[in-house]
Amino acid sequence: RRLALSTKTQSMTTMANDEDCGGNLKRQLGKLFEVSLRATVPDENVEPLIAACSGNFGDYQCNNAMGLWSKIKAKPNKTFRGPPAVGEAIKENLPPSNMIESCSVAGPGFINVVLSTKWIAENIQKMLIDGIDSLAPRLSLKRAVVDFSSPNIAKEMHVGHLRSTIIGDTLARMLEFSKVEVLRRNHVGDWGTQFGMLIEFLFEKFPKFEDVNESAIGDLQAFYKASKQRFDTDAEFKDRAQRAVVRLQGGETKYHQAWEQICELSRKEFDRVYQRLGVHLEEKGESFYNPFIPEVIGALRNKGLVEESEGAQVIRLEGFNIPLIVVKSDGGYNYASTDLTALWYRLNEEKAEWIIYVTDVGQQQHFDMFFKAAKLAGWLPSDNSTIYPKVSHVGFGLVLGEDGKRFRTRATEVVRLVDLLDEAKNRSKAALIERGKAAEWTEEELEQTAEAVGYGAVKYADLKNNRLTNYTFNFDQMLNDKGNTAVYLLYAHARICSIIRKSGKDIDDLKKTGELVLGHPDERVLGLHLLQFAETVEEACNNLLPNVLCEYLYNLSENFTKFYSNCQVVGSAEETSRLLLCEATAVVMRKCFFLLGIVPVYKI
Ligand code: ARG
Repeated sequence: RRLALSTKTQSMTTMANDEDCGGNLKRQLGKLFEVSLRATVPDENVEPLIAACSGNFGDYQCNNAMGLWSKIKAKPNKTFRGPPAVGEAIKENLPPSNMIESCSVAGPGFINVVLSTKWIAENIQKMLIDGIDSLAPRLSLKRAVVDFSSPNIAKEMHVGHLRSTIIGDTLARMLEFSKVEVLRRNHVGDWGTQFGMLIEFLFEKFPKFEDVNESAIGDLQAFYKASKQRFDTDAEFKDRAQRAVVRLQGGETKYHQAWEQICELSRKEFDRVYQRLGVHLEEKGESFYNPFIPEVIGALRNKGLVEESEGAQVIRLEGFNIPLIVVKSDGGYNYASTDLTALWYRLNEEKAEWIIYVTDVGQQQHFDMFFKAAKLAGWLPSDNSTIYPKVSHVGFGLVLGEDGKRFRTRATEVVRLVDLLDEAKNRSKAALIERGKAAEWTEEELEQTAEAVGYGAVKYADLKNNRLTNYTFNFDQMLNDKGNTAVYLLYAHARICSIIRKSGKDIDDLKKTGELVLGHPDERVLGLHLLQFAETVEEACNNLLPNVLCEYLYNLSENFTKFYSNCQVVGSAEETSRLLLCEATAVVMRKCFFLLGIVPVYKI
């Protein structure tokens, strides 16, 4: 029996796992329609237009007939009388495939496609055997940079950095899943004139700076604020601070060492947050690019792009009422000089094809401007929509408090990230204890679940919104176990695991020996949704929208609930098949959690 099935699995490989399409059903259908379109109108080169539909007419729709008609209608010898006839011909010319059950032409020429239920079932089972990675979509690029998180040294990481960290990590994970090599870059603000005043202030405070231990200068943010105040009010200090910048940038040992010590201290603090969030990044801060700036600005100057304006050196850009300053009037470099240089480095040294920047929308103009400068310089094609190399700014909105204003704990202070995470965890732990879990579980299980649920809730509440909209931070809402929350989804997954556990069956054995059949309409809906995972991830990547994946996950859970309430699993005649469907749902849910940076829980 095993042998028979393994040959079947073999022949399915070529069907679902076409090299270029991955598990993307839309693309797989597109390939079939491409053949048909060529056969129907050989001298027109058109891309197949395939869309998923949720109606009574089919699972997918091909929308090429109307466009094709408008291209050919004026030509002599036309063989068709109108778009519906073109649609019929496209339908007739489809190559045979066991993917498609039936097609019908409707209205002005839409071709509705019903997928074969058997094919869907076989491909889910194949995914269970080969693993979910076999479904991964394929994007047409090899390497991307995701520049995210990127806090500033000596300043607190705030909620904006939290958003950048969460969104950037998800984008990186989705791209990695789609077989893109991702360089995860932490573009920390570790360079600039502010270090002059901070170091000078710390030297004053701790005359023997070399011996100062971490705890003494632990609260860098407070020192930063105090030094800023001195700088603004004390002319003598200001003067010293400015000279300190020169000494630091000239590489004077004492100053350089102090700077390194400060960076190291901040780094440790950032790392604690990353560790809790399960996020991994590689730091290449502003200072890394500093040595390359003169060369890059020089190249821009040679292209005739740089001109002098009020002592500064600028690039004028059409469509902007201010020029892009690349060298300040005091001769120093700025955020834009560094970003231009980092872009140059990423394109030329790191050979990245897609460079993605995750910051709040407030920085939109900065990115628009230096992207435009890079296009003027010929580093990037001027059309940014489809051709690589390309750059994208992934902007996001504000996090609001209950009062509808920017999220703050006290009237003036920004929210400390670690406090948020602590509170999320403590609240979810309290909820678990209330459910009696303290008596059932070990302390370790309780801790781990509280973290998974608490941090997962914070992440999901952020990711489920379109990133451009502002959202209100509300613990009660995000920790609710009903509605579109991580808690609801994590519990749903744990329940599926418990159904499988309680059946007493060895699921790995069933995968190989059992057969998955989608007999009930609710089983078919769930099954098709499972296979639409790959095209969802591809869409989320292409549009840089994590909320697309959240919506998919939520619908998956809803489809599962419907199936489970209408189809008996354990003890039914269809038990084996339905357990496999439960397992497939759990597998896809876990992959969604993984891509969203959420740790799954297995019991609740
Ligand atoms: N450090 C900046 C900030 O906190 C974000 C840097 C984003 N990345 C970049 N390449 N500009 O606002």
